[in-house]
Amino acid sequence: MSEPTIEDYYVEDRTFPPSADFVKNAVVADRSHYEEATEDYEAFWARQARELLTWDEDFHTTLEWNLPYAKWFLGGKLNVSYNCLDRHVNAGYGERIAYFWEGEPGDTREISYAELLDEVSRFANVLKQLGLQKGDRVAIYMPMIPELPVAMLACTRIGVAHSVIFGGFSPDAIIDRCEDAEAKLIITADAGYRRGVPSALKVNVDAALDQGASSVRHVVVVNRCDTEVVMAEGRDLWWHELMADSSSECPAEPMDSEQLLYLLYTSGTTAKPKGIMHTTGGYLTQVAYTHKTIFDIKREEDVYWCAADIGWVTGHSYIVYGPLTNGCTSVMYEGTPDTPLPEFRSGEDRADWSKDRLWDIVERYGVTQLYTAPTAIRTFMKWGAADPKAHNLNSLRVLGTVGEPINPEAWMWYHENIGNENCPIVDTWWQTETGGHMISPLPGVTTTKPGSACHTIPGVFAELVDDDGNPVEQGGGYLTITHPWPSMLRGIWGDDERYRDTYWSTYENRYFAGDGAKIDGDGYLWLLGRVDDVMNVSGHRIATAEVESALVDHSSVAEAAVVGATDEITGQAIIGYVILRGGNEPSESLGEEIRAHVATKLGPMARPKAVFLVPDLPKTRSGKIMRRLLRDVAEGRDLGDTTTLADASVVAEIRDRASSDPQED
Ligand code: PRX
Repeated sequence: MSEPTIEDYYVEDRTFPPSADFVKNAVVADRSHYEEATEDYEAFWARQARELLTWDEDFHTTLEWNLPYAKWFLGGKLNVSYNCLDRHVNAGYGERIAYFWEGEPGDTREISYAELLDEVSRFANVLKQLGLQKGDRVAIYMPMIPELPVAMLACTRIGVAHSVIFGGFSPDAIIDRCEDAEAKLIITADAGYRRGVPSALKVNVDAALDQGASSVRHVVVVNRCDTEVVMAEGRDLWWHELMADSSSECPAEPMDSEQLLYLLYTSGTTAKPKGIMHTTGGYLTQVAYTHKTIFDIKREEDVYWCAADIGWVTGHSYIVYGPLTNGCTSVMYEGTPDTPLPEFRSGEDRADWSKDRLWDIVERYGVTQLYTAPTAIRTFMKWGAADPKAHNLNSLRVLGTVGEPINPEAWMWYHENIGNENCPIVDTWWQTETGGHMISPLPGVTTTKPGSACHTIPGVFAELVDDDGNPVEQGGGYLTITHPWPSMLRGIWGDDERYRDTYWSTYENRYFAGDGAKIDGDGYLWLLGRVDDVMNVSGHRIATAEVESALVDHSSVAEAAVVGATDEITGQAIIGYVILRGGNEPSESLGEEIRAHVATKLGPMARPKAVFLVPDLPKTRSGKIMRRLLRDVAEGRDLGDTTTLADASVVAEIRDRASSDPQED
């Protein structure tokens, strides 16, 4: 027998079947979708496309697949903003709330579908007036305010592709992305509220345009915070002034199913960001289908909340396009979870403020589905259960997670403290490149296991393979997708070779996602993170995610990051960085106990050589742990590029701890 591709140590045998009550009313309550899609996946997606979307012209061919290029729903014509807005208004649902929006300072707006349509049409006319035409690209660099989805939908109304740039990014990121896409316009705001104060945006656009991005002719600026901005004569224009003069008559233009809908740049830690391309008909079909079935959306009753930022693909697919296509009511929140409403901010010191804003919002709006990231859940664990316990969260029906592997203990914490042991948890695996969910439970069908994303969704097919590309029936391997799916990326903007190299060259005829995973005896998939994060300890390939889960399994641990540091004897040695749950004091004996716990859980091979008890971990702005930096610290190297870090001071603190009090052999 050859060596396993990735070891499989972590055993989890708790299971959670959907309750009879949930199944009774579930959008999907049996295996029929799986059966239909296995029988004929093209026919399955064609049915979803016709049932969930309104087409101006029906498609004649479901799929054209010239590996690695897919076209879906050929010949079909439709408009995304029509599907998100007009058709609901035309059907008599204009008064339904599309977004309950809440600003961080506590200002609120209720925006109905009719109002959203009105604003989108007016802004689409503004775009036309500024000379934008079908096929052009527009950059959007905004806070989480209603004008952000308005701007995106206005683009789709006239066939302009948007490229949303996350509001936390620097001028350099704006330059790179605008230059690569040759964007003609940037839509921004003076600032957005974050952690209690305005966080400036327009100045970053100014800095970017001083240095490059010469394709940009105009900048449209929303006045969100009333901060001072410099408006360049002839170039910069106020949103409110343009909108005041703009007509709300703007018919939605039917687009080809394969019309470019948007670019979204994924930032690798070093390489140039890739402009991931998504198109119209296939993308909208898969996000509408997955949003409806995986969150079990009943649009008449539900108040759905995806607490991500629209700057990431999660926000594109599950704050804007999925929920609006399905005509449901969403919550949208501008700020951070640790910024309470002003009346509840006790004193000047942020550290004393309550951290219950999310639970306050869930209670006030009666949120039924909550979708957030494991990193957020582990932060809530660190803060403790008192905040959620102080609120009535009984409205919640389904909980979702995305972005990283969720450790079983974090899953259990979510289940117990937020879901009151009464909400199915959907752990959704997907990527910017996949556009929509790929692996996830269906809440009314799947018996879940804490920490497992369970199975591919109906109509999506994955296989784990070993180093040689042979299928792995059980144990660890590389996650590949074997068939095209409707919302798959159509390429990398302007770099076809990179598209083929990055995703299609590792294993013949398969999309390689770059993630490791394992499959258990019941056929459940367990995502293990990026394959770059697999360690090699004395010839054993151990996934960081497994050791992290074992660390978080200890009752004092809230969050953990594990890296493999070069070691003379074992090749790599496992080094753990651990954040304790609220109420625990760091001590040598606790560190020792935590290391021993990993050995008990996974076996002695996986016991970390050292565990550092740290106050925080270095993360990207989307919340992913930057293991590369931790490896640099562990190996005593100078830090490489830290520009993608959310908070650069964290690493210095970790370095101090790491040089003073390691819990090691
Ligand atoms: O490593 C996987 C991880 O996030 C990567 C995709 O990141 P991004 O393109 O930024 O999109 C994030 C939102 C979809 C994946 O390659 N990832 C995402 N969801 C999960 C996950 N890892 C484990 N479990 C998940 N549910």
